[in-house]
Amino acid sequence: MKILTIVGARPQIIKAAALSRAIRNHFAAEIDEIIVHTGQHYDANMSQVFIDELEIPAPNINLNIGSASHGKQTAMMLQGIEDALLAEAPDFLVLYGDTNSTLAGALAGSKLRIPVVHIEAGLRSFNKSMPEEINRIMCDHASTLLFVPTSAGIRNLEKEGFRTDNTAPYSADNPGVFHCGDIMFDNLVHYSRISEAKTGIINSLNLTGKQFILCTIHRDNNTDIPERLHSIFDALITIANNNTDIVVPLHPRTRKLLLDKTGDGISTRLSKNHRIHLIPPVSYLEMIALEKNASLIITDSGGVQKEAYFFHKPLVVARPETEWTEIIENGAGIIADADESRIVNAVDELLNKSDLQFPEVFGNGRAAEFICNTMLSHSARI
Ligand code: UD1
Ligand code: UDP
Repeated sequence: MKILTIVGARPQIIKAAALSRAIRNHFAAEIDEIIVHTGQHYDANMSQVFIDELEIPAPNINLNIGSASHGKQTAMMLQGIEDALLAEAPDFLVLYGDTNSTLAGALAGSKLRIPVVHIEAGLRSFNKSMPEEINRIMCDHASTLLFVPTSAGIRNLEKEGFRTDNTAPYSADNPGVFHCGDIMFDNLVHYSRISEAKTGIINSLNLTGKQFILCTIHRDNNTDIPERLHSIFDALITIANNNTDIVVPLHPRTRKLLLDKTGDGISTRLSKNHRIHLIPPVSYLEMIALEKNASLIITDSGGVQKEAYFFHKPLVVARPETEWTEIIENGAGIIADADESRIVNAVDELLNKSDLQFPEVFGNGRAAEFICNTMLSHSARI
């Protein structure tokens, strides 16, 4: 069986690592994987570092699309992915998550009638002003196999008319919907033991033995709306002034809008605050070392929200809503949006709770094997 995998943005490279590892370890004789990188993320610390560190095979094709407006970026990807699909004629096109690379893949594959496999299907924010919400809905509805990480994802799909009792042969009109756990959890199970041994990030930040908060911010409605961006970083300044160190690996989008603008008071106040560590994006192993050692995580990232839960860390969500509703329902996280006082109060509340619960909601860490076995059972070629 031949599959063609699309990656483009940082979290997709990380998710793809789990599937590539499962193929290498368990299905090398049965599955041939071609990797196409759209080039949506291209800085070394947003792309190549993950390919090297997570031992993903070098992408067979790099479309080198880079940054552009949504329409232009998606259109260029669509053209490049279509060419790759025509040249490779895979049995399945494998897509991750909800980025523009995902959307371009879904359009290209479904129009060529190549069965689309969507990993991380079914997630919804019910907020269509998010570009990701449009991308994931379109991708789910063009897919033949949908791999859903959570029960909430299954319920969302059922509300849109998907059925979990469809039987093979599957097609875009009769898709197979599988609740399989979260493929990011596979990675954590695999890498969490070696992350600290492999990295000196905690030492290099002089945080060994100290309590600190980890924060990542990159959503467009946080970075591109100055009031929201400033409100979040004002909250960090207030928390830091209460003798708490905060580590913030800055996504390039956030760095540009927060620091590279001249005449903006917040960047001066941040650079003067010695408890706020603004650092470039870190590698995956460094990131999970930071997550494991943090006392609390503040984020608007999808992946980092889940990783907080995997590591049993209290979570403050700097968004108006979340797709990972189980975290909030279990009381392990609070939605604080981009509101300075809500963020400060949520941090205070969660750090003072001693009885947080983290029941298992993301599967058993073997989602990638399940996905490979399911594709093999339903490949037309086998
Ligand atoms: C994208 C995804 C988002 C995902 C995030 C993961 C879409 C619509 N958004 O958001 O769902 O959560 O990736 O990180 O697909 N830039 C660089 N260097 C890079 C990459 C980006 O400087 O290597 C800067 C550019 O100024 C670019 C901006 O970041 O315009 C935004 O990049 P883009 O890929 O369009 O969106 P993200 O915000 O990264
Ligand atoms: N991540 C990383 N280095 C960083 C920030 C994040 O390795 O500096 C990892 C993080 O551990 C998670 C993934 O990137 O596995 C999440 O990606 P991101 O937040 O960019 O996107 P999202 O999940 O919101 O789509």
